Amino acid sequence: MTKCKRKSIGTHFSSCVQPAFIIGTNNEDGSYEFAPITWVSATNDKDWDYHMTVSMYGTKRTKTNALREKKLSINLVSTDMLRLMDYLGTHKGKNGKKDAIPYEVGRGEVVDVPVLEASRWVYECEVVKTVELGGSTTFFCKIMNIQVDERLDPKDTFDVDISLLDPVIYSSYYYKLGEKLGQIGEMSKDIKD
Ligand SMILES: Cc1cc2nc3c(=O)[nH]c(=O)nc-3n(C[C@H](O)[C@H](O)[C@H](O)COP(=O)(O)O)c2cc1C
Repeated sequence: MTKCKRKSIGTHFSSCVQPAFIIGTNNEDGSYEFAPITWVSATNDKDWDYHMTVSMYGTKRTKTNALREKKLSINLVSTDMLRLMDYLGTHKGKNGKKDAIPYEVGRGEVVDVPVLEASRWVYECEVVKTVELGGSTTFFCKIMNIQVDERLDPKDTFDVDISLLDPVIYSSYYYKLGEKLGQIGEMSKDIKD
């Protein structure tokens, strides 16, 4: 490893290297609402009881819906969905239906939420807790079901070939993934305790 020469740039850069997700919620009239939210991470309550955390700032339909309905879908964005994500994220639901780009919408298999048919990895979630920080709300979402592209066919929880998901990485700009580097434990297996 080469020593990195860093400089301090203050605290106002929110840029975080993250995969991009589109959140699906139900509007009050039963129609669907979708918006990209990239402040998404994971945690767990106890073993195998995984939760996602989703943070939303300001006011937006998706946030109001998630607070009211206590359920949402989290749809991973593959590079072929980039134009759709960009559109959904730069238009507000309160200004009218966001349907200038056609996209197919299905329903969750376990939770009654709208899901994006183009997404290769979909979490169906129930909101179990919210934490406010100023104008932002972080939703702790219990994963009730995960739908994955049939091509993935994972043998275990670590056997997920992300290259098949082809995720968009967002960090102020949009990126795509590079190569697979190796497996967990493989990179340091020669080191004995
Ligand atoms: C790439 C991208 C990432 C975004 N990430 C977030 C986020 O993490 N949290 C958030 O509150 N809004 C985020 N937004 C903004 C919302 O998507 C935006 O406010 C959207 O218009 C809300 O739609 P709605 O009014 O239909 O809910 C993001 C937008 C884009 C384009």
